[in-house]
Amino acid sequence: MKDREVGVGLVSVGWMGILHSRSYANFPKFYPELGIKPKLIIAADTTLERQEYAKDVLGYAQATSDYMDVINHPDVQVVSVCSPNYLHREIGIAVARAGKALWIEKPVGRSGVETAELEAEVVKAGIVTSIGFNYRCTPAIQYAREIIAAGDLGEITHFRGSFFADYSAEANSALSWRFKKEFAGSGVLGDLMGHLVDLIHYTVGPISEANGFTKTVYKDRPILPMGSATHFAVIEGGERGAVENEDYAGALVKIGESGIGAGAIGTIEASRISVGPRSAYNIEIYGTKGSLKWDFERMNELELSLGRNGANVGYQRIMANSYFGDFSKFQPGSGTSMGYDDLKVIELKRFMQAYFGEASENSNIHDATSAGRVCDAIEQSQASGSWTKVPATKGTTAALKAKK
Ligand SMILES: NC(=O)c1ccc[n+]([C@@H]2O[C@H](COP(=O)([O-])OP(=O)(O)OC[C@H]3O[C@@H](n4cnc5c(N)ncnc54)[C@H](O)[C@@H]3O)[C@@H](O)[C@H]2O)c1
Repeated sequence: MKDREVGVGLVSVGWMGILHSRSYANFPKFYPELGIKPKLIIAADTTLERQEYAKDVLGYAQATSDYMDVINHPDVQVVSVCSPNYLHREIGIAVARAGKALWIEKPVGRSGVETAELEAEVVKAGIVTSIGFNYRCTPAIQYAREIIAAGDLGEITHFRGSFFADYSAEANSALSWRFKKEFAGSGVLGDLMGHLVDLIHYTVGPISEANGFTKTVYKDRPILPMGSATHFAVIEGGERGAVENEDYAGALVKIGESGIGAGAIGTIEASRISVGPRSAYNIEIYGTKGSLKWDFERMNELELSLGRNGANVGYQRIMANSYFGDFSKFQPGSGTSMGYDDLKVIELKRFMQAYFGEASENSNIHDATSAGRVCDAIEQSQASGSWTKVPATKGTTAALKAKK
């Protein structure tokens, strides 16, 4: 196949900006048959050190402090937006108005409402989008979807999911931009719960109603200046600032009438202050004929139980293997593990396929709005103390449909 070059611009050179860049660089080595050759054109960051890193280490031809230089660059066709949440809407709208394709990190807006504002601009501009919902690209999840779609679990009855991280489990864990409403919007709701909601939407179906609650455990933390270190930092001494959003969120939720799990109920929880789990991201999906479990801390495994009767009812632990989605693009044989960064390469493959007009399971701006609206509903439910309906959204184009 003839090479297809695509010019890449990046906004923000933090954890995710670096990971997007590594993905662009590595992607052709995992998917050579697609003939797609990303070219790293220009990166923006307000921190000079990170601009230099973008050129010297990541290989961008240019760097700038102004993200509009990235969007307006004539050689840039796709823009990765990896900035703190408060910039997503304004940068995303600028990308849409420039008619370029957008790969943007989650949560897209500081709320579902803000995400919907960008969604409207994206629809108007007709650009291709992809969202940083990397966990849906896990080969074990790809296989889980096949099992659910084939009806092997029977009718989906209930589920539970949790995303428990410990990045702020210390009282002196840094007060990064993630803890300030102006910069992040919600706390663990946008940061981790959004991922979990997307995975439930992707495997079971869209959540239509939530009865939720939130809690902030640590009221202040030591201040971390923007663009220095990461949110995993622990700082002894120094000035402290107020935590403005929630450390924990939980909800009882219902799946609406569309999707393969129509009518199922479940619980979803997220925490950034759990002691013990490091980045434990669990989903358990139960049906009338079987169930499955997956945990990101053991992302190369799927636990599967099929059948109700007989001596061997129980879980089978299946290591990721060549039957699991894109696994064989990364490892030649089961037992050799894939890692987190590989999920971003698969996400990029889906984005690139969508950009070149090919069939793709890329997440898109509608997925981001759907997840954001559920997080908003949990927040509203905490305030009202009652069940809250999630406004109807376009949902995901990749949602599994119930068999007729
Ligand atoms: N998909 C995932 O699993 C995942 C994981 C981590 C973070 N994220 C998301 O990625 C986004 C970035 O998070 P991160 O952890 O990489 O953040 P980070 O704090 O590591 O980096 C943010 C960068 O933005 C830069 N910046 C600030 N203002 C800017 C501006 N005006 N113009 C350009 N750059 C600017 C900072 O200097 C810094 O380099 C967030 O939305 C976050 O929720 C997603």
